[in-house]
Amino acid sequence: MPQPYVLLSAAVSLDGYLDDTGPGRLLLSGPADFDRVDEVRAGSDAILIGAGTLRTDNPRLLVNSPERRAARLAAGLPEYPLKVTVSASGDLDPEARFWHTGGEKVVYTTDEGAKRLTEAGIAADVVPLGSDLPWPAVLAHLGDVRGVRRLMVEGGGRVHTQFLQQGLADELQLVLAPLLVGEPDAPRMFGAGAYPGGPRSRMRLLETRPVGDVVLMRYVPSVPGTGPAVSAADRHWLDLACALAAECPPSETAFSVGAVIVAADGTELARGHSRQAGDPVVHAEEAALAGLDPADPRLSSATVYSSLEPCARRASRPAPCARLILDAGVRRVVTAWREPDTFVEAADGTGVLTAKGVDVVVLPEYEERAKAPNGHLLGR
Ligand SMILES: NC(=O)c1ccc[n+]([C@@H]2O[C@H](COP(=O)([O-])OP(=O)(O)OC[C@H]3O[C@@H](n4cnc5c(N)ncnc54)[C@H](OP(=O)(O)O)[C@@H]3O)[C@@H](O)[C@H]2O)c1
Repeated sequence: MPQPYVLLSAAVSLDGYLDDTGPGRLLLSGPADFDRVDEVRAGSDAILIGAGTLRTDNPRLLVNSPERRAARLAAGLPEYPLKVTVSASGDLDPEARFWHTGGEKVVYTTDEGAKRLTEAGIAADVVPLGSDLPWPAVLAHLGDVRGVRRLMVEGGGRVHTQFLQQGLADELQLVLAPLLVGEPDAPRMFGAGAYPGGPRSRMRLLETRPVGDVVLMRYVPSVPGTGPAVSAADRHWLDLACALAAECPPSETAFSVGAVIVAADGTELARGHSRQAGDPVVHAEEAALAGLDPADPRLSSATVYSSLEPCARRASRPAPCARLILDAGVRRVVTAWREPDTFVEAADGTGVLTAKGVDVVVLPEYEERAKAPNGHLLGR
């Protein structure tokens, strides 16, 4: 089973705090944003919070709208998303609202924590994972055993920090509230430590939207994986390459392909698509590389995302894209789809690249999206 799509969701004050130091929960956003969160919850298979949030906020984590709950039931889903918490200690109050509202609950814990939770009579499925709680094991269990495809993570700071630092978050939905906390000991959204891509690594802004008196910002990670290891950002960049493929002027004699070149710190260096700027034969990777200085030092650690594997042979220009990529010094390519025999028999751009030590990663879950603008060439 694929790993769940992980969406981190939180509201922060203007000075970056999740809460103040007082007892109970600080309400950072208003009714319009609570309704937006309700909608995101309704679209999730599971909602996860850390034990710290469970202890401090004592939340219910429900879908409040009857219409949204009815829509879930009509779609064959449980009325409420699965509620999930993680606790190494197992020190959780069995009377907390979390256990007594909504639908099914699961708590991931250590072997020690499981003893404590079982003795306390916690009303949930208690899943011990050994002496500690590796997040990939939690996600694998949620995906494989609980069938979770979309996981919404609602804090707190220690949980959000670990997801981001371990490269496990697919999206961040952050609300900025017009409020200053000003207490240095208050919990922050993200803590210190190493984030993927090193210091000052970037995320990519997808959307900003006012919601009442707060602003919603949606980010996706942008730092490519390394070698054969796939990061969440790899999926987003390949998705963008597929979107560019859909923008190509149509052709009966060539594929529609999109490409993006991304530096190791997550900066987009260039993008291109087939037949860009009126050039009837230009390929996507070729168009993207043409926008860069060949001496750009970032190319040697960059990743090329191409909706179709780079071509190995072509009649229209002397150098195929696999050759252009090698000449540019790029060492990593991520693609959705191996080239079929439609125009060139046994084209093997992947073979050309890997023979020279380039890592080529194929993400087949994007194949249909990459093929969509080429259906007429594939007899569809
Ligand atoms: N503004 C917002 O949108 C928002 C949203 C959520 C929360 N918050 C605020 O955030 C604060 C709580 O954040 P927090 O950072 O203190 O706590 P947290 O992240 O909610 O939970 C931390 C706890 O989760 C468990 N945990 C986390 N990672 C673990 C791991 N890898 N292995 C085992 N256990 C793990 C541990 O529980 P044990 O100690 O039981 O072992 C740990 O103490 C509260 O003040 C709350 O109001 C704000």
